[in-house]
Amino acid sequence: MQRKVTKAIFPVAGMGTRFLPATKSIPKEIMTLVDKPLIQYAIDEARAAGITDFIFVTSRGKSALEDYFDDAPELESSLAAAGKMELLEILRNTNMESGAISYMRQNRPLGLGHAVWCARRLVGDEPFAVLLPDDVISSDKPCLQQMVEAYEETGGCMVAAMEVPQDKTSAYGILDHDNADGNVVSVNAMVEKPKAGTAPSNLAVIGRYILTPRIMNNLGTVKRGAGGEIQLTDAIAAEIGAGRMVSGYKFDGTRFDCGSKAGYLQATVAFGLSRPELREELSCFLKELVATKA
Ligand code: UTP
Repeated sequence: MQRKVTKAIFPVAGMGTRFLPATKSIPKEIMTLVDKPLIQYAIDEARAAGITDFIFVTSRGKSALEDYFDDAPELESSLAAAGKMELLEILRNTNMESGAISYMRQNRPLGLGHAVWCARRLVGDEPFAVLLPDDVISSDKPCLQQMVEAYEETGGCMVAAMEVPQDKTSAYGILDHDNADGNVVSVNAMVEKPKAGTAPSNLAVIGRYILTPRIMNNLGTVKRGAGGEIQLTDAIAAEIGAGRMVSGYKFDGTRFDCGSKAGYLQATVAFGLSRPELREELSCFLKELVATKA
């Protein structure tokens, strides 16, 4: 029986340069898909997986993100006074229990691995999840919940994995893995952004991880990797090097890369169309637009 995963790290200290000038003052994670900020999708997914401790690794200029998780008593009372109970319910669902969230500063953007390492004292000696809010996953069963259920059988480190077209492999961390019939594959090696034609497979790592506390030790010793940054991939690869189990989990669902403009726009359309109250108007608009632009 594996130890239960109750802590999750949300690394949100990146500069979000692909969304400048918006990210000059708005944290990327606050940008909305329909009516919810990206971070809320990640929080809801983590909650569904049984996470009770939410650790944010933030940086300068992210105070809007911290404010988002505060209660809004004035807004709540005016909605209640106006009898807008549905909106009140929506608002209250975003409230976090006191003490459930902690914030840790990453003083310099030294990479995803470094951001995760910044939370080492809060994680302690427990397995933990990492969720990158840029990766929004639409699925019947939330992705992290699928992984937690699989992890209860496998233990070790687990990364979410998704098949990508062969000509896109150089944009991802790619798994060298054993073939398997089910959703879980055993990982032999991980290659960060392989050069065209050299990828060991087309199974890419995306932003959901379940990691053992040893990863924090590895992060403390790994050297700066690709781009001069401390890479989370290198710390996970060190586990494979030490003969420990790392698995890839081929989740059921669709992932949108909301860290890129094209992915964010695609997610906006897909999530808009999935809302019953918006579907018809939006799909008519899209059909007309495509017809006139074709
Ligand atoms: P990205 O590679 O998307 O970088 O980070 P970014 O800074 O957010 O965005 P661009 O590329 O400049 O547009 C992936 C995840 O890792 C976090 C980011 O916040 C994002 O969730 N991250 C990255 C950190 O927390 N700290 C870092 O030093 C780097």
